[in-house]
Amino acid sequence: MAVVLGTRPEAIKLAPVIRALGDSPLFEPVLINTGQHREMLEQMLRRLGLTVGHDLAVMRERQQLSALTARLIGGLGELIREERPDLVMVQGDTSSTLCGALAAFYEHVPVAHVEAGLRSGVIDNPFPEELNRQLVTRMARWHFAPTPRAAAALTAEAVPASAVMVTGNTVIDNLLWAHHRTDGRSAFRSGRRGLLVTLHRRENQGARMRALADTLLRLAERPDVEVLVPLHKSPAVRDVLLPALGANPRITLTEPLDYFDFIATMADSTLVLTDSGGVQEEAPSFDKPVLVLRDTTERPEVVRAGAAKLVGTDPGAVHAAATALLDDRVLYRRMAGAPNPFGDGHASERILGALAHDFGRVPAPARPLDVVTAG
Ligand code: UD1
Ligand code: UDP
Repeated sequence: MAVVLGTRPEAIKLAPVIRALGDSPLFEPVLINTGQHREMLEQMLRRLGLTVGHDLAVMRERQQLSALTARLIGGLGELIREERPDLVMVQGDTSSTLCGALAAFYEHVPVAHVEAGLRSGVIDNPFPEELNRQLVTRMARWHFAPTPRAAAALTAEAVPASAVMVTGNTVIDNLLWAHHRTDGRSAFRSGRRGLLVTLHRRENQGARMRALADTLLRLAERPDVEVLVPLHKSPAVRDVLLPALGANPRITLTEPLDYFDFIATMADSTLVLTDSGGVQEEAPSFDKPVLVLRDTTERPEVVRAGAAKLVGTDPGAVHAAATALLDDRVLYRRMAGAPNPFGDGHASERILGALAHDFGRVPAPARPLDVVTAG
């Protein structure tokens, strides 16, 4: 079996599945690292103890989607042709995900999609991830949906119910695994209330990111807070945030944090402001309210559960939402106490069980997902 990954979140979300596959005598997972990300991915692979079988090293500085896609499909096609795996596993919605599925499809190798069925309903938001997910759905034979809503979205698109399994999100498996082993250290330094901020999405780059930076400067004027921004490596992010925030002593900019340090930082924070998919899935596990800095969401479960608010990027709205949470204890407690709707930490087990069953190797697993339903 080949497991394709190329970016930081794919490594985090596939790590527990690779561990489960590797611990089982039934499968031999071979990791194909597309190298869509370089430092950010290598940092993860090292810390998560993942050994790569192939590295396509496709990343270029300021890569464009079309050229990246061409390098990915060429490299992956050749590898899958040579290796002839009995299945290709992909995760999520990145360019590596799309090209891993497409290259496998072209070679008549079946595709398993982890974190299937997320839908914002707006084809170009998030861009290009919403389209990537929909295309991967058309190509996959196994659809591992993190939530019942994601599963329902798939069956509504005529994916046979027998090909869909609700597993929970593997991000929670990894979080629980890491939490027990962590030697991570919080990056907050001041003892003030910590605002943890991550920003990188394409639709937020440019003017929106400049406006968000101004909002962070306003929030940092409060004497009771410390704003911490671990910077994504993308130059499109750094070109805006470094000049806008770099000189302010009340704002700490860091390189991407080590995963274990990031988790410790999240646990030490008061509030999370983010446009990241993975971060909004993790924060409720630490009872941290999340302000989602995006206009649409393919993860409405966390909003419905009451753990996150979709606030968009309008400076007034973001400032008001953050201020309300910092000043209103009742509101804060309500959001912080909301359940995490993304699973119970056993998603990888279910994925392994389903694949083993379908390859005729062991009976299907019995443990159903105890779904968190939000009012
Ligand atoms: C990609 C995914 C996005 C995911 C994000 C996770 C696509 C289309 N988008 O977006 O869904 O949320 O990864 O972080 O696949 N760079 C480095 N070093 C690194 C990583 C990136 O220098 O380790 C720089 C490069 O200049 C690169 C740029 O960042 O050109 C953008 O990287 P890219 O993978 O194209 O897009 P992301 O915005 O990271
Ligand atoms: N993360 C990390 N260090 C950081 C920022 C994020 O380890 O400095 C982890 C975080 O725990 C989460 C993942 O990276 O699991 C999210 O990745 P990213 O925001 O790059 O991508 P997305 O989830 O939006 O696709």
